[in-house]
Amino acid sequence: MKSLVILLFSGLITGCRGNSSHSLPPKLLLVSFDGFRADYLQNYEFPHLQNFIKEGVLVEHVKNVFITKTFPNHYSIVTGLYEESHGIVANSMYDVVTKKHFSDLDDKDPFWWNEAVPIWVTNQLQENRSSAAAMWPGTDVPIHNTTPSYFMNYSSSVSFEERLNNITTWLINSNPPVTFATLYWEEPDASGHKYGPEDKENMYRVLKEIDDLIGELVHKLKVLGLWENLNVIITSDHGMTQCSKDRLINLDRCIDNSSYALIDLTPVAAVLPKINTTEVYNKLKVCSPHMNVYLKEDIPARFHYQHNNRIQPIILVADEGWTIVLNKSLPKLGDHGYDNSLSSMHPFLAAHGPAFHKGYKHNTINSVDIYPMMCHILGLKPRPNNGTFGHTKCLLVDQWCINLPEAVGIVIGALLVLTTLTGLIIIMQNRLSVPRPFSRLQLQEDDDDPLIE
Ligand SMILES: *[C@@H]1O[C@H](CO)[C@@H](O)[C@H](O)[C@H]1NC(C)=O
Ligand SMILES: *[C@@H]1O[C@H](CO)[C@@H](O)[C@H](O)[C@H]1NC(C)=O
Ligand SMILES: *[C@@H]1O[C@H](CO)[C@@H](O)[C@H](O)[C@H]1NC(C)=O
Ligand SMILES: *[C@@H]1O[C@H](CO)[C@@H](O)[C@H](O)[C@H]1NC(C)=O
Ligand SMILES: *[C@@H]1O[C@H](CO)[C@@H](O)[C@H](O)[C@H]1NC(C)=O
Ligand SMILES: *[C@@H]1O[C@H](CO)[C@@H](O)[C@H](O)[C@H]1NC(C)=O
Ligand SMILES: *[C@@H]1O[C@H](CO)[C@@H](O)[C@H](O)[C@H]1NC(C)=O
Ligand SMILES: *[C@@H]1O[C@H](CO)[C@@H](O)[C@H](O)[C@H]1NC(C)=O
Ligand SMILES: [Zn+2]
Repeated sequence: MKSLVILLFSGLITGCRGNSSHSLPPKLLLVSFDGFRADYLQNYEFPHLQNFIKEGVLVEHVKNVFITKTFPNHYSIVTGLYEESHGIVANSMYDVVTKKHFSDLDDKDPFWWNEAVPIWVTNQLQENRSSAAAMWPGTDVPIHNTTPSYFMNYSSSVSFEERLNNITTWLINSNPPVTFATLYWEEPDASGHKYGPEDKENMYRVLKEIDDLIGELVHKLKVLGLWENLNVIITSDHGMTQCSKDRLINLDRCIDNSSYALIDLTPVAAVLPKINTTEVYNKLKVCSPHMNVYLKEDIPARFHYQHNNRIQPIILVADEGWTIVLNKSLPKLGDHGYDNSLSSMHPFLAAHGPAFHKGYKHNTINSVDIYPMMCHILGLKPRPNNGTFGHTKCLLVDQWCINLPEAVGIVIGALLVLTTLTGLIIIMQNRLSVPRPFSRLQLQEDDDDPLIE
């Protein structure tokens, strides 16, 4: 009986899948709009993005990784690893052993990236599959000797239209087919830094432009016939918070700049002492009530930011909205990089496609959970990572998931059914007990029968 049900069921499923497009391998386009703070979605209008969400899923808050900077977070999304485990621990790094430097302008040495394997490499190791990138940190670097089959060298001057045109061309025309693709755009990060997120007028304009780009993306996918079968994730690396000239921490007021080297400055400073570490630490410790000063071994475990040679002996973490400077004026009106438990640092995630539910809203996941979800969609075996696939099950059509309100509903429903059943049984028993004497009479009559015979 059980096997019959399973047979019927699998027959149903293969019957639905049997046709054309579904037999092709699943495809996924991963899109990042840099610095898209989660609550922009509540505070501004996004007609195109809201339409995308209406037919797909939304995760309102994605808890990202510390430090909440661009390169580290983009690499966590595609590896599922905390920064200490994937090795891109900042946008500016120094390795004491090799004496190598890394910056967002000088990022092409695979040395920095090889501590992890991003999903585009794993995808390409599968037979008959290739990956493509219209930019994303690391996609123009031969990581483990492998770049995506199709990629662009990073250049901020390439328009969104050109990135979109080229990535969709690759998604359509390539053999072996491109099954994983990335698309990266610098806004609203650049404007968030320039104006600060509290500049409603300028942010309104910039965010409307972003929404129009999302409109173009969806339109293009529909025109090309990709819309129904392509899975699309739109997300971001981090949020943005307002800074102020009244919230400056000037390290030069506290310590002689010759006693240490600064590898990274704000809002998380990476300090490499040139003299006795304890002395440097003691001076910085009392420098400002608006930043936390940690010896590497004392960095809180919740940051998962300790076990890597590229993390310097002392780090300074500014409070939200505070800027660390060296005797200079305020460099930017908006910034990110702060504590990843701050909701202003969180991005969102929206997704659409055959793998995702339609019209489902979810409260929160971690950015490291995106990787195992993407591997599941693509049918790839995930590499060891810090994400939890279970956190994303509610987003996926092929997974069974109950969230808390549903669970409460089911329990109440079950109790109602039980109560009703019990009631019915009691009534039935009462009804049955009425004709009892009667049946006894009948029985007695029956008993008499043999006598008659
Ligand atoms: C199956 O494919 C055929 C031809 O490719 C098409 O006419 C038909 O509509 C498809 N059926 C479904 C359920 O997609
Ligand atoms: C790869 O593609 C070739 C040619 O289309 C096909 O013969 C082969 O079975 C495919 N391999 C896999 C694992 O899908
Ligand atoms: C990227 O730049 C390198 C060095 O400038 C060049 O050799 C390579 O062909 C470029 N690749 C692409 C895909 O444009
Ligand atoms: C996009 O594709 C066009 C046409 O193939 C090509 O000329 C152009 O160089 C590509 N752009 C980038 C940034 O690779
Ligand atoms: C800070 O800069 C000002 C000039 O802008 C200079 O006069 C002052 O000595 C500097 N202070 C320190 C501690 O470097
Ligand atoms: C250290 O401060 C002096 C002036 O106080 C300045 O001339 C010098 O450039 C600073 N060095 C660094 C590495 O910032
Ligand atoms: C560093 O300085 C502290 C306090 O000033 C001192 O106790 C310690 O011995 C010094 N360590 C070294 C290695 O010089
Ligand atoms: C994160 O995952 C890596 C790879 O499995 C593992 O080595 C590391 O210990 C994990 N980190 C935490 C905090 O669990
Ligand atoms: Zn930024």
